[in-house]
Amino acid sequence: MRIFRRGNIAAVFVLGATFLVIYFCQNSADLTNYNFSSSPLTDVVNNDSQSETVIKLHTHEFLVPKCEANKSVADMKDFSSLPDTIKNFLYYRHCRTFPLLLDLPGKCSKEVFLLLVIKSSPLNYDRREVLRKTWAKERLHNGAWIRRIFILGTSDSGYEKKKLNKLLKVEQEDFNDILQWDFNDTFHNLTLKQMLFYGWMERNCPNARFLFNGDDDVFAHTDNMVEYLQNLPDNDGSKHLFTGYLFLNEKVVRWKGSKYFIPVQIQESNTYLPYCGGGGYLLSGYTALVIYRMSQSIPIHPIDDAYMGICLSKAGLSPSSHIGVKTLGLNIPSKGADNLEPCYLRDLLLVHRFLPADMYLMWREVHNPHLKCNP
Ligand SMILES: *[C@@H]1O[C@H](CO)[C@@H](O)[C@H](O)[C@H]1NC(C)=O
Ligand SMILES: *[C@@H]1O[C@H](CO)[C@@H](O)[C@H](O)[C@H]1NC(C)=O
Ligand SMILES: *[C@@H]1O[C@H](CO)[C@@H](O)[C@H](O)[C@H]1NC(C)=O
Ligand SMILES: *[C@@H]1O[C@H](CO)[C@@H](O)[C@H](O)[C@H]1NC(C)=O
Ligand SMILES: *[C@@H]1O[C@H](CO)[C@@H](O)[C@H](O)[C@H]1NC(C)=O
Repeated sequence: MRIFRRGNIAAVFVLGATFLVIYFCQNSADLTNYNFSSSPLTDVVNNDSQSETVIKLHTHEFLVPKCEANKSVADMKDFSSLPDTIKNFLYYRHCRTFPLLLDLPGKCSKEVFLLLVIKSSPLNYDRREVLRKTWAKERLHNGAWIRRIFILGTSDSGYEKKKLNKLLKVEQEDFNDILQWDFNDTFHNLTLKQMLFYGWMERNCPNARFLFNGDDDVFAHTDNMVEYLQNLPDNDGSKHLFTGYLFLNEKVVRWKGSKYFIPVQIQESNTYLPYCGGGGYLLSGYTALVIYRMSQSIPIHPIDDAYMGICLSKAGLSPSSHIGVKTLGLNIPSKGADNLEPCYLRDLLLVHRFLPADMYLMWREVHNPHLKCNP
């Protein structure tokens, strides 16, 4: 019962007429003594017209009840004046368990030094494709294994949703790098996505030494990351590390038109706790699991990177600043140069926003042995 060894997961058993119904929730219970081998295996059966979805998780069968909207959030003060996306967030904020559509049970059966956890969305096929060929290629660098996982929800509905899910299934067959859950992959669900990943990690990949967590449109110099992590004094992943582009006393956006708008109904304080920009940051396996455990008693905040800061703070840990992470664009020192300056990128860990073609070109350029740079 490897996946339940950590016992942090919770379960309520309900014996249905035809199924053994197991519903994960945040309370805790021990599943280790339960004999699953008597239940039959089944594939993912995702039936939109039913209220439940049967999923296969490892060799076990689960029935995840559809999470219903919390109607009483509408009684909050000034709820009706909030933008629709925020209303929708509040209605479903309590939902933390969604069926896993595509799983990677064997991903961590071998050694993992740096696990790349890349936030993608079903439509971003071209970005995933170029990352597989460039910085996210699974490989041994300097004696350390780099492995790759894209984390996704679903997009669209009806036929379009089915078509995109089929694409991901095909990608999975070819590349074995997709973790997908059945929730609407929107900006305000990014924190949910992150927490679903950490829950998966706790069960399936607790021994990953370090993680890179970032967007699918950044240029992450993963060779440099491995070397940086290998040179950390006294940390093999079993101690705290959380580093990237650090925001201190960042102001909460109160302007309704902004993508980042957060009303007082979600957060009263006007500043965020320290956090690292979500474009990309590095953390230890230890810290990832601490964040997950803290998150279980902290209501979801829609801004995913700020939420990590809240979890860290609750654990008494701080994020730190890494000078090589440039998530706010670059100030290229040399005149006439632009984002596509390989000499500058060569020494960095992360630069934000690259188009797929530029990514491909740049990865080649920084690895060009004939590249001449002024010292
Ligand atoms: C679990 O169930 C299977 C099938 O019913 C049975 O063969 C096996 O002995 C059981 N194992 C335990 C530990 O009870
Ligand atoms: C989905 O569920 C409905 C209602 O239970 C049923 O009529 C329909 O046949 C199911 N469709 C599939 C593809 O299983
Ligand atoms: C539903 O929302 C109300 C009002 O915000 C809150 O008090 C309650 O705890 C929520 N219920 C759940 C299940 O999250
Ligand atoms: C998903 O979210 C988007 C953006 O909020 C919305 O337009 C769309 O209707 C949602 N889809 C589903 C299936 O809920
Ligand atoms: C998050 O996903 C759930 C499940 O699809 C959906 O009901 C909810 O509306 C989404 N939340 C937001 C804020 O898009």
